[in-house]
Amino acid sequence: MILSIESSCDDSAIAITEIATNKLIFHKKISQEIEHSIYGGVVPELAARLHAEALPKILQQCEPYFKDLKAVAVTTAPGLAVTLIEGVTLAKAVSIALDIPLIAVNHLVGHIYSLFIEKEALFPLTVLLVSGGHTQVMEVKGLTDIKTVSKSMDDSFGESFDKVAKMMGLGYPGGPVIEKLAKEGDRKRYDFTVPLLRTQKFAFSYSGLKNAVRLAVEKAEKKDYKDIAASFEHIATKHLLHKLKKYFREHPPKNFAIVGGASANIYLRSQIKDIIKPYNATIILSELQYCSDNAAMIGRVAVDMYKKKIFTPLEKLEIAARTEIL
Ligand code: KG4
Ligand code: ZN
Repeated sequence: MILSIESSCDDSAIAITEIATNKLIFHKKISQEIEHSIYGGVVPELAARLHAEALPKILQQCEPYFKDLKAVAVTTAPGLAVTLIEGVTLAKAVSIALDIPLIAVNHLVGHIYSLFIEKEALFPLTVLLVSGGHTQVMEVKGLTDIKTVSKSMDDSFGESFDKVAKMMGLGYPGGPVIEKLAKEGDRKRYDFTVPLLRTQKFAFSYSGLKNAVRLAVEKAEKKDYKDIAASFEHIATKHLLHKLKKYFREHPPKNFAIVGGASANIYLRSQIKDIIKPYNATIILSELQYCSDNAAMIGRVAVDMYKKKIFTPLEKLEIAARTEIL
């Protein structure tokens, strides 16, 4: 079995995955949403202190499996430096204590593998990753063959939901609250401009839309917030669809997946199905419980890395708060 640790942002999570079967034997996650909510976003220093408290508590529950562990995996990048280090330090301690090798996992590869928890991996795969930190499209041919073909020039899709929620005083994370509010609103009431409509560039941008929403919120009354939320969600999604549609014309997908915390968004999930239809492609979505950050996805990557013997020596294992994949 492999023990995997995730602490790249505001979720402290540990999982145990069986190497031969991909079976998830144990998974526990302690989220810090309530603690960060009053600040309208993640406070890194607070997040680090909460990880230092939560991770050893979860690790204690894994003790019955210690004798079965063949490796310890940990997210080393990308993420908040001060929170990644909490997971990495714990992983090193486990590696020394149990005399087992370390596996350094990229968090974005983790999100891709959230599709394969308790399953076999499936490639080739065109992936849209929409999280709090990233909005990018990747062509994935295998564990070590991942190419980013497009990404956001500024804010990410999920982050724009967080910022809109903050403007409305609705706390953090913004995705679920804005989605809920949007359900009651009129998607057509606010005519926000779709970002990057006039450029051929295959890229994403959310800062302009965010500022347009800010102006609308400033002028609006509270009763209008649901219409702003609905119109914002509609345009934010339309932007993704517009860019993907163009890309698919030249690069028809065989298998298409959406991953990351914001892939839980039901409006996005339903709309994406329509643009895939002409290609007869298979759509793969991760289970809702594995869309947001978790250690099961890190463990699933680690199983494939273990089989390929991709280990990192203890003295070389360090965090890299880089955003580029692999
Ligand atoms: O993948 P994740 O848990 O963390 C990162 O790696 O960033 O994603 C968290 C992000 C947050 O920005 C959150 O607001 C967004 O995903 N999110 C959503 C929804 N659920 C979570 N965004 C839109 N709609 C949702 N239902
Ligand atoms: Zn994530």
